[in-house]
Amino acid sequence: MPLPPSFLDELRTRLPLSEVLAKRMTLTRAGREFKGCCPFHNEKTPSFYVNDAKGFFHCFGCGAHGDIIGFVMRFDRYSFPEAIDHLAQQAGMEVPTLSREEVEQAKQQKTLHQLCEVTCAWYEQQLHTAKGRPSLDYLRGRGLSDEAIARFRLGYAPMDGAALLAHLKTQGFEPEQAMEVGLARRSDDGRTYSFFRDRVMFPVTDRRGRVVAFGGRIMSGDGPKYINSPDHPLFHKGKLLYSLARAREEAPRGAPAIVVEGYMDVISLIEAGFPAAVAPLGTALTENQMEELWKLGGTGGDPILCFDGDNAGQRAAARSVERVLPLLGANRTVRIAFLPQGQDPDDLIKSAGPKAMQEVLTNAIPLIDMLWRLETEGKDLSAPEARAGVRSALFERIGKIADQTVQTYYKTELQQRLNAAFGWGRVAGPRYEKAPSSNLARRLPPDATQQRQRMLIIGLLRHPQVFETMGERLIGLGITGPLDSLWQAVVSTLETSPGLDSEGLRSHLSDQGFSDQLDQLLAEKLTTVNRWARPDVEVYQVERGLEGIISAHRLTTMQAELRQAERSLAERMDEAGLARLAALRKEYQEAAAASMPGEDE
Ligand code: UTP
Ligand code: MN
Repeated sequence: MPLPPSFLDELRTRLPLSEVLAKRMTLTRAGREFKGCCPFHNEKTPSFYVNDAKGFFHCFGCGAHGDIIGFVMRFDRYSFPEAIDHLAQQAGMEVPTLSREEVEQAKQQKTLHQLCEVTCAWYEQQLHTAKGRPSLDYLRGRGLSDEAIARFRLGYAPMDGAALLAHLKTQGFEPEQAMEVGLARRSDDGRTYSFFRDRVMFPVTDRRGRVVAFGGRIMSGDGPKYINSPDHPLFHKGKLLYSLARAREEAPRGAPAIVVEGYMDVISLIEAGFPAAVAPLGTALTENQMEELWKLGGTGGDPILCFDGDNAGQRAAARSVERVLPLLGANRTVRIAFLPQGQDPDDLIKSAGPKAMQEVLTNAIPLIDMLWRLETEGKDLSAPEARAGVRSALFERIGKIADQTVQTYYKTELQQRLNAAFGWGRVAGPRYEKAPSSNLARRLPPDATQQRQRMLIIGLLRHPQVFETMGERLIGLGITGPLDSLWQAVVSTLETSPGLDSEGLRSHLSDQGFSDQLDQLLAEKLTTVNRWARPDVEVYQVERGLEGIISAHRLTTMQAELRQAERSLAERMDEAGLARLAALRKEYQEAAAASMPGEDE
């Protein structure tokens, strides 16, 4: 629905964003902006900002962002034309009807679609002529049944550069139209000729299943193995995926979305029972394509990116990780699968069957494991400098995650892995040479974080049952200190043997070599131990005490975030930075006010 830009400008001028929004939610003034609780996610403290001057809203909590039309579409669940109608009515404006030129354009798009369709059918037909015979044999030789060849509408573009244009002519299409969709070119002497000649043809359909482009594979002779239609009004390589239309049907039915490299891989996967397989079109995976994958609404798990097991495959995987990190969000991630060295999915299915492919997919690793692998694999981490290097490389990478919540979870998780990997703990994961724990650190006066860690351990030793209700949150704190190895041992023991009582937990820990440390901790003078962690208190008191630790630790983390926001604002004074700082300050004050007593009782 093309609309003149002047119309949209007028609409925005007549309807200030804050006015439209205020009818749907509560907004309060915040300097030059307005703020309120975000209507698109559940929150108690406002992180949703509205800027009338710029005409957009932004939520620092969930990242929702857009203009007046986007808001109405999302809030009122309107389509674009419905939103326009609704707003125009409110503004007392009339929606302009299409100009003659625009109608002409819409008509022409239809004929270009028809041209692509007619071409596809003709290529299919050519496959079954004498000249197409070698191509048909080639496809059969690659294990494709005649049904599959028909299903994927594979075809043959003959050597003769004039044949397609002649056929199109009989169907009422001009050479200029074929040129417009990249199916024909004009030589210096003014003659038009087909772009695809003597190639096996793979039609590419748009997200609705209409043919819009082609890939052509050479069978012999010189030239690139595949050539692809150039971008044109109906086809944008970077926004489409091969077999996307089918994936859009199959993913919601539970088929996992699988991204592979080539046309033949997609076809083999679909034939082998993985119907939501897709491939980019001769380029690396783009942001737009990632968005398409997340929009599939797949119920078969996160999209899986498949890579070759060789070095080039590893490098390609690393590049994809770079590209995906900034886009991560709640329920927006990928898993990574590695194929055996030197085999693509088509090779693997041919040589070892669908089961082998399924195994590869089952072994797909979460993105965070891939990050970990990229930074740690093959590295000698015995030196502190090397560890510091790994840590900073990992944290630099996750700094690229735009979604703050996701970034925080990554930080916590990676910190725990670092602790475990460096021999400070006993959680599962890659192990490296154990570092002797520093006695020096233990003799230093404990800072607040260390003190908290000590209290957590004593609390759980005395009242292990609270781990059932609070364990996950306690682990999530990512608390560190000189007692890391004991803390990790407590956590993993309680995770693997739920239901242990205090004595049972202590004996498990003693078996793991912690008896001295335990004796020392439990013998500490009771006056230095918070009251709630003593043996003779009620469970609810312990829970309250732990809540106190959690909120105190959260405050410390937020202070660090605040300092970071202040620093980055000083570097780059902008409104977004200001708004973020304001939101953080507010959140901090509220958290501080709500912070539970208990820690320092
Ligand atoms: P591959 O070279 O891995 O080919 O290219 P493939 O898919 O295994 O093909 P077969 O099995 O030899 O037939 C992977 C994808 O990269 C693009 C194509 O989209 C291809 O499917 N490509 C490759 C090109 O666009 N141009 C090329 O010259 C080569
Ligand atoms: Mn191949």
